[in-house]
Amino acid sequence: MTILRVRVWRGAETGAFREYEVPQRDNQTVLDVVTHIQRVCDTSLAYRYACRVGMCGSCAMTVNGRARWTCRTQVASVVAGDRLEIAPLNNLPVVKDLVTDMSRFFDKWAQAKGQFHGNRSRREDFARVSPDSPQRRAVDAAIECIGCGVCYSSCDVVSWNPGYLGPAALNRAWTLVNDVRDTARIARLAAVAGDAGCHACHTHMSCSERCPKRITPTAGIAGLKRAAAAAVLRGEL
Ligand code: SF4
Ligand code: SF4
Ligand code: FES
Repeated sequence: MTILRVRVWRGAETGAFREYEVPQRDNQTVLDVVTHIQRVCDTSLAYRYACRVGMCGSCAMTVNGRARWTCRTQVASVVAGDRLEIAPLNNLPVVKDLVTDMSRFFDKWAQAKGQFHGNRSRREDFARVSPDSPQRRAVDAAIECIGCGVCYSSCDVVSWNPGYLGPAALNRAWTLVNDVRDTARIARLAAVAGDAGCHACHTHMSCSERCPKRITPTAGIAGLKRAAAAAVLRGEL
Protein backbone atom coordinates (compact mmCIF):
# COMPACT_ATOMS: atom_id res chain seq x y z
CA MET A 1 0.00 0.00 0.00
CA THR A 2 1.30 3.48 -0.91
CA ILE A 3 1.58 5.90 1.97
CA LEU A 4 0.94 9.62 1.52
CA ARG A 5 3.02 12.01 3.60
CA VAL A 6 0.66 14.84 4.46
CA ARG A 7 1.73 18.09 6.08
CA VAL A 8 -1.22 19.80 7.74
CA TRP A 9 -1.33 23.26 9.29
CA ARG A 10 -2.00 23.08 13.04
CA GLY A 11 -2.70 26.16 15.13
CA ALA A 12 -4.23 29.52 14.36
CA GLU A 13 -2.40 32.53 12.88
CA THR A 14 0.70 31.15 14.56
CA GLY A 15 1.32 27.45 14.41
CA ALA A 16 3.26 24.91 12.40
CA PHE A 17 2.80 22.11 9.91
CA ARG A 18 2.56 18.60 11.35
CA GLU A 19 3.11 15.53 9.23
CA TYR A 20 0.79 12.52 9.07
CA GLU A 21 0.93 9.27 7.13
CA VAL A 22 -2.24 8.34 5.27
CA PRO A 23 -2.85 5.25 3.09
CA GLN A 24 -3.36 6.23 -0.54
CA ARG A 25 -6.49 4.78 -2.13
CA ASP A 26 -8.16 4.80 -5.52
CA ASN A 27 -10.54 7.69 -6.16
CA GLN A 28 -9.45 9.40 -2.94
CA THR A 29 -10.21 13.09 -2.52
CA VAL A 30 -8.21 15.56 -0.48
CA LEU A 31 -11.20 15.82 1.85
CA ASP A 32 -11.01 12.02 2.33
CA VAL A 33 -7.38 12.47 3.41
CA VAL A 34 -8.26 15.21 5.92
CA THR A 35 -11.15 13.12 7.24
CA HIS A 36 -8.84 10.11 7.68
CA ILE A 37 -6.38 12.23 9.67
CA GLN A 38 -9.14 13.57 11.90
CA ARG A 39 -10.76 10.16 12.48
CA VAL A 40 -7.68 7.96 12.73
CA CYS A 41 -4.57 10.05 13.48
CA ASP A 42 -5.64 13.08 15.50
CA THR A 43 -9.22 13.79 16.54
CA SER A 44 -8.35 17.35 17.56
CA LEU A 45 -7.88 18.45 13.92
CA ALA A 46 -10.41 21.15 13.00
CA TYR A 47 -11.73 21.38 9.44
CA ARG A 48 -15.00 22.17 7.74
CA TYR A 49 -17.21 20.49 5.16
CA ALA A 50 -20.89 19.74 4.68
CA CYS A 51 -22.11 18.33 1.37
CA ARG A 52 -19.05 16.46 0.01
CA VAL A 53 -20.44 16.89 -3.51
CA GLY A 54 -19.40 20.40 -4.56
CA MET A 55 -22.59 22.17 -3.51
CA CYS A 56 -21.98 23.98 -0.23
CA GLY A 57 -18.56 25.60 -0.71
CA SER A 58 -17.42 24.95 2.85
CA CYS A 59 -14.49 22.59 2.24
CA ALA A 60 -12.06 24.96 0.51
CA MET A 61 -8.43 24.76 1.68
CA THR A 62 -4.97 25.46 0.31
CA VAL A 63 -3.58 22.26 -1.20
CA ASN A 64 0.05 22.19 -2.29
CA GLY A 65 0.03 25.99 -2.37
CA ARG A 66 -3.21 26.52 -4.27
CA ALA A 67 -6.78 27.13 -3.09
CA ARG A 68 -9.16 24.31 -4.05
CA TRP A 69 -12.45 22.72 -3.09
CA THR A 70 -11.18 19.58 -1.37
CA CYS A 71 -14.27 17.38 -1.75
CA ARG A 72 -13.95 17.43 -5.55
CA THR A 73 -10.15 17.41 -5.76
CA GLN A 74 -8.69 13.99 -6.41
CA VAL A 75 -5.43 13.31 -4.58
CA ALA A 76 -4.00 11.77 -7.75
CA SER A 77 -4.40 15.08 -9.58
CA VAL A 78 -2.50 17.20 -7.03
CA VAL A 79 -0.08 14.95 -5.12
CA ALA A 80 3.61 15.78 -5.58
CA GLY A 81 5.37 12.41 -5.42
CA ASP A 82 3.94 11.08 -2.17
CA ARG A 83 3.46 14.51 -0.59
CA LEU A 84 0.52 16.75 0.12
CA GLU A 85 0.54 20.01 2.04
CA ILE A 86 -2.83 21.17 3.33
CA ALA A 87 -3.32 24.63 4.86
CA PRO A 88 -6.23 26.99 5.51
CA LEU A 89 -7.34 29.48 2.84
CA ASN A 90 -5.18 32.58 2.38
CA ASN A 91 -6.50 36.10 2.95
CA LEU A 92 -8.79 35.09 5.82
CA PRO A 93 -8.13 34.87 9.57
CA VAL A 94 -7.48 31.33 10.79
CA VAL A 95 -9.77 30.15 13.58
CA LYS A 96 -8.03 26.81 14.10
CA ASP A 97 -6.09 24.41 11.88
CA LEU A 98 -7.90 24.32 8.51
CA VAL A 99 -10.87 26.48 9.54
CA THR A 100 -10.94 30.13 8.50
CA ASP A 101 -13.25 32.87 9.69
CA MET A 102 -15.41 33.70 6.64
CA SER A 103 -17.09 36.75 8.27
CA ARG A 104 -14.98 39.29 6.37
CA PHE A 105 -15.66 37.47 3.11
CA PHE A 106 -19.44 37.59 3.53
CA ASP A 107 -19.41 41.09 5.07
CA LYS A 108 -18.07 42.22 1.71
CA TRP A 109 -21.03 40.66 -0.08
CA ALA A 110 -23.22 42.93 2.08
CA GLN A 111 -20.95 45.95 1.35
CA ALA A 112 -21.34 45.24 -2.37
CA LYS A 113 -25.13 45.24 -1.85
CA GLY A 114 -25.31 41.56 -2.64
CA GLN A 115 -28.94 41.31 -1.50
CA PHE A 116 -31.83 41.28 -3.98
CA HIS A 117 -34.20 44.26 -3.71
CA GLY A 118 -37.51 43.60 -5.44
CA ASN A 119 -40.70 45.63 -5.52
CA ARG A 120 -43.42 43.01 -5.96
CA SER A 121 -45.79 42.03 -3.21
CA ARG A 122 -46.62 38.43 -2.40
CA ARG A 123 -50.01 38.90 -4.06
CA GLU A 124 -48.47 39.60 -7.46
CA ASP A 125 -47.48 36.92 -9.93
CA PHE A 126 -43.85 35.80 -10.22
CA ALA A 127 -41.71 37.98 -12.47
CA ARG A 128 -40.59 36.00 -15.49
CA VAL A 129 -37.04 36.40 -16.81
CA SER A 130 -36.44 35.00 -20.28
CA PRO A 131 -33.43 32.65 -20.29
CA ASP A 132 -32.52 34.11 -23.70
CA SER A 133 -32.46 37.74 -22.63
CA PRO A 134 -29.01 39.42 -22.85
CA GLN A 135 -28.97 40.25 -19.13
CA ARG A 136 -29.78 36.68 -18.11
CA ARG A 137 -27.24 35.22 -20.49
CA ALA A 138 -24.57 37.59 -19.16
CA VAL A 139 -24.79 35.91 -15.75
CA ASP A 140 -25.40 32.28 -16.77
CA ALA A 141 -22.16 31.17 -15.11
CA ALA A 142 -21.97 33.81 -12.38
CA ILE A 143 -25.18 32.73 -10.64
CA GLU A 144 -23.65 29.29 -9.97
CA CYS A 145 -21.30 30.70 -7.29
CA ILE A 146 -21.26 28.54 -4.15
CA GLY A 147 -19.43 31.07 -1.96
CA CYS A 148 -16.43 28.84 -1.39
CA GLY A 149 -13.86 31.67 -1.13
CA VAL A 150 -11.33 30.03 -3.48
CA CYS A 151 -11.22 33.14 -5.68
CA TYR A 152 -10.94 35.50 -2.71
CA SER A 153 -8.10 33.45 -1.28
CA SER A 154 -6.31 33.48 -4.65
CA CYS A 155 -6.57 37.23 -5.27
CA ASP A 156 -3.34 39.19 -4.84
CA VAL A 157 -5.19 42.49 -4.60
CA VAL A 158 -7.06 41.22 -1.51
CA SER A 159 -3.64 40.34 -0.04
CA TRP A 160 -2.30 43.87 -0.66
CA ASN A 161 -5.52 45.71 0.13
CA PRO A 162 -7.65 43.92 2.73
CA GLY A 163 -10.47 46.41 2.11
CA TYR A 164 -10.90 45.31 -1.53
CA LEU A 165 -14.34 43.78 -1.99
CA GLY A 166 -12.84 40.88 -3.91
CA PRO A 167 -13.97 38.71 -6.81
CA ALA A 168 -16.84 36.82 -5.17
CA ALA A 169 -18.69 39.86 -3.79
CA LEU A 170 -18.20 41.69 -7.09
CA ASN A 171 -19.39 38.62 -9.02
CA ARG A 172 -22.51 38.62 -6.86
CA ALA A 173 -23.05 42.34 -7.52
CA TRP A 174 -22.71 41.64 -11.26
CA THR A 175 -25.49 39.05 -11.13
CA LEU A 176 -27.81 41.56 -9.45
CA VAL A 177 -26.88 44.46 -11.73
CA ASN A 178 -28.17 42.22 -14.55
CA ASP A 179 -31.31 41.15 -12.70
CA VAL A 180 -34.18 43.01 -14.37
CA ARG A 181 -36.37 42.48 -11.27
CA ASP A 182 -33.94 44.25 -8.93
CA THR A 183 -34.57 47.89 -7.96
CA ALA A 184 -31.25 48.82 -6.33
CA ARG A 185 -29.07 48.94 -9.44
CA ILE A 186 -27.69 52.47 -9.00
CA ALA A 187 -27.10 52.08 -5.26
CA ARG A 188 -25.26 48.84 -5.99
CA LEU A 189 -23.12 50.42 -8.70
CA ALA A 190 -22.27 53.21 -6.25
CA ALA A 191 -21.27 50.58 -3.68
CA VAL A 192 -18.93 48.75 -6.04
CA ALA A 193 -17.45 51.77 -7.85
CA GLY A 194 -15.45 53.07 -4.87
CA ASP A 195 -11.70 52.76 -4.33
CA ALA A 196 -12.04 49.26 -2.87
CA GLY A 197 -14.44 48.10 -5.56
CA CYS A 198 -14.25 46.99 -9.17
CA HIS A 199 -11.69 49.61 -10.22
CA ALA A 200 -9.13 48.12 -7.81
CA CYS A 201 -9.05 44.84 -9.77
CA HIS A 202 -5.78 44.41 -11.63
CA THR A 203 -7.19 41.73 -13.95
CA HIS A 204 -4.68 39.14 -12.79
CA MET A 205 -7.23 36.41 -13.56
CA SER A 206 -6.24 34.17 -10.63
CA CYS A 207 -9.87 34.16 -9.50
CA SER A 208 -11.10 32.99 -12.88
CA GLU A 209 -8.34 30.40 -13.29
CA ARG A 210 -9.06 28.82 -9.91
CA CYS A 211 -12.83 29.05 -9.48
CA PRO A 212 -13.99 25.44 -9.18
CA LYS A 213 -17.33 26.34 -10.80
CA ARG A 214 -15.54 27.81 -13.83
CA ILE A 215 -16.97 31.24 -13.20
CA THR A 216 -14.97 34.21 -14.51
CA PRO A 217 -15.33 36.94 -11.89
CA THR A 218 -12.85 38.98 -13.92
CA ALA A 219 -15.41 39.29 -16.71
CA GLY A 220 -18.13 40.35 -14.27
CA ILE A 221 -15.79 42.92 -12.71
CA ALA A 222 -15.05 44.33 -16.18
CA GLY A 223 -18.81 44.48 -16.74
CA LEU A 224 -19.24 46.42 -13.49
CA LYS A 225 -16.57 48.90 -14.61
CA ARG A 226 -18.46 49.46 -17.87
CA ALA A 227 -21.83 49.74 -16.13
CA ALA A 228 -20.44 52.22 -13.57
CA ALA A 229 -18.86 54.34 -16.31
CA ALA A 230 -22.13 54.35 -18.28
CA ALA A 231 -24.03 55.38 -15.14
CA VAL A 232 -21.60 58.27 -14.62
CA LEU A 233 -22.10 59.42 -18.22
CA ARG A 234 -25.87 59.32 -17.74
CA GLY A 235 -25.51 61.41 -14.58
CA GLU A 236 -26.85 58.58 -12.38
CA LEU A 237 -23.69 58.21 -10.24
S1 SF4 B 1 -8.88 39.42 -11.73
FE1 SF4 B 1 -9.20 41.00 -10.14
S2 SF4 B 1 -10.48 40.00 -8.61
FE2 SF4 B 1 -9.64 38.37 -9.90
S3 SF4 B 1 -7.80 37.66 -8.80
FE3 SF4 B 1 -7.17 39.25 -10.26
S4 SF4 B 1 -7.21 41.21 -9.13
FE4 SF4 B 1 -8.38 39.67 -7.93
S1 SF4 C 1 -16.75 32.79 -7.77
FE1 SF4 C 1 -16.06 30.63 -7.82
S2 SF4 C 1 -14.28 30.58 -6.48
FE2 SF4 C 1 -15.36 32.48 -6.03
S3 SF4 C 1 -16.68 31.99 -4.27
FE3 SF4 C 1 -17.89 31.69 -6.17
S4 SF4 C 1 -17.65 29.52 -6.68
FE4 SF4 C 1 -16.03 30.01 -5.20
S1 FES D 1 -18.08 19.80 1.13
FE1 FES D 1 -19.54 21.03 0.07
S2 FES D 1 -18.43 21.85 -1.60
FE2 FES D 1 -17.02 20.50 -0.65
